[in-house]
Amino acid sequence: MCGIIGVLGKHEVAPLLVESLKRLEYRGYDSAGIATVRDGHLDRRRAVGKLVNLSDLLVHQPLAGKSGIGHTRWATHGAATTENAHPHLSGPVAVVHNGIIENFRELREELAAAGIHPETETDTETVALLTRLHMDRGMAPREAALTTLRKLDGAFALLWLFDGEDDLMIAARKGSPLCIGYGTGEMFVGSDAIALAPMTNEITYLEEGDYAFVTRVGAEIFDESGRRANRDKQVIDAGSVQVEKAGYKHFMAKEIAEQPAVLGDALRNYVRKDGLNLPDGLDFSGLDRLTLVACGTAFYACSVAKYWFESLAGLPCEIDVASEFRYREPPMPKNSWALFVSQSGETADTLAALRYSAEHVAKTIAVVNVPTSTMAREADVALPIHAGIEVGVASTKAFTCQLLTLAVLALKAGIDRGHLSPEQLAAHLETLRALPGLMNTALGTSDDIARLAERLAEAQDILFLGRGPLSPLAMEGALKLKEISYIHAEGYASGELKHGPIALIERTVPVIVFAPHDRLFDKTVSNMQEVMARHGQVLLVSDSKGLATASEGTWATLKMPEVAEPFAPILYALPAQLIAYHTACAKGTDVDQPRNLAKSVTVE
Ligand code: M6R
Repeated sequence: MCGIIGVLGKHEVAPLLVESLKRLEYRGYDSAGIATVRDGHLDRRRAVGKLVNLSDLLVHQPLAGKSGIGHTRWATHGAATTENAHPHLSGPVAVVHNGIIENFRELREELAAAGIHPETETDTETVALLTRLHMDRGMAPREAALTTLRKLDGAFALLWLFDGEDDLMIAARKGSPLCIGYGTGEMFVGSDAIALAPMTNEITYLEEGDYAFVTRVGAEIFDESGRRANRDKQVIDAGSVQVEKAGYKHFMAKEIAEQPAVLGDALRNYVRKDGLNLPDGLDFSGLDRLTLVACGTAFYACSVAKYWFESLAGLPCEIDVASEFRYREPPMPKNSWALFVSQSGETADTLAALRYSAEHVAKTIAVVNVPTSTMAREADVALPIHAGIEVGVASTKAFTCQLLTLAVLALKAGIDRGHLSPEQLAAHLETLRALPGLMNTALGTSDDIARLAERLAEAQDILFLGRGPLSPLAMEGALKLKEISYIHAEGYASGELKHGPIALIERTVPVIVFAPHDRLFDKTVSNMQEVMARHGQVLLVSDSKGLATASEGTWATLKMPEVAEPFAPILYALPAQLIAYHTACAKGTDVDQPRNLAKSVTVE
């Protein structure tokens, strides 16, 4: 979602701010802006659309100054217009903001009583107006910002800059991450370490409720109660903030191709020669239930994992999307655990579900890609998925690494609960160890998929089918396709077809079937025949055994290497991703930053 950058520098900051905003583009945005202080005077430039529009504006109307703040906005309150873009300015105050000020309507009433009326539709402007009101009443910038901060409800990160103060930024974190970066005679603030990477690798993450006064000599950090807080400084590994396409046309292409390597890393972390390697405190024996909660692609990872926990460990599982789970206030047995899956570790709904569950269950577990994220910090146990930074909005390598981590957990549960013998565990580990190699083979179908995608790109609707743990993969395939190609797609458990979706089948509707030659293969093939009997155009994705028996009558086939049950979804994720990727390329859409989407959804 929105990205924040702030610099108290030694040189002109406008180019630095724009460069940092570029690094934050992956979060998703629809307008951008910067403000600087020069000779004690605040000024700003803002533009709708891509950053290139802001850069163009700066060529014609440059902005000087060595202190500045910048922002990429993903619209929540008010359309993506220049007026609604950040920074918001009121008198001597400039503010950028990520998240939502939930009580902004009440605050507007308070402002109206003082004769101050908003000029934009945003919640953010209220912060600038209130701070200004306090300054008009005689408060200094620090006191005015803090007085404002105490009035705000919601989940947000804020950064203030002031007229007449070219050596002060005030940062506050409540719900959305914010970090402070240290230079020599320079200081930085960013919504993540990636924004700060070219300028510094020394970082302090603010904790929940913290605020900080930042000057060129350092940062004074205070906790929610106003006490001076000592927060650790971390040195960030350069590789972990690398956002290069490395010769690929898109980040998504690079991230798809990286999967054999990152899955190998995740495996090395969780599987040793002599068995599983998980942190202490994960004994599944005697557990009554496991609840898995997530959003989007991470939810489909949980949906696949439900099959594994049930079949490998006999462990009853409940799954839900976080936005529903958090408000239905489900009863949860005390003797149960709740597991949350999130690439970013910051998704607002999943975080709220984690906080709800922490009050009800014996243990919370966060499976995240960002080890410094809020979920990782708040859960009882945090398990990193080791995918490395994922820039493409469409989640790819994070999905397969989430699956791998969940597979390892399901195997641990199987052993703890006496459901799996050591021999069975060894056989399953062999399957997991083989996956990086099999993924390399699957990536070899990329050119064939690119050819098929030319035709898929002409479709208006596409269906995906699968059975067993491949049925959530069908849904993930459909999600991936719709989010980056904008083609309407649905994923179904293939047995559900004749209960409704079969009405959609006609010659123009491609149907993509994920069907490894497993114990459910014949069932899936029957559903596929029903599609072909109605002139549906089937693309069958299967292994050599499957293709040998069921290719006849299909529109096209894709050959995957053989993979033992039940881990086929980890391998079949690759053709699903490549189908979406190449179809989007054929349509010429913005693959890495699809319209309306944000990488990290920090508002509900
Ligand atoms: O960061 P998270 O894993 O919590 O994000 C959850 C979803 O927003 C995310 O998976 C989304 O569905 C992706 N764009 C899918 O590609």
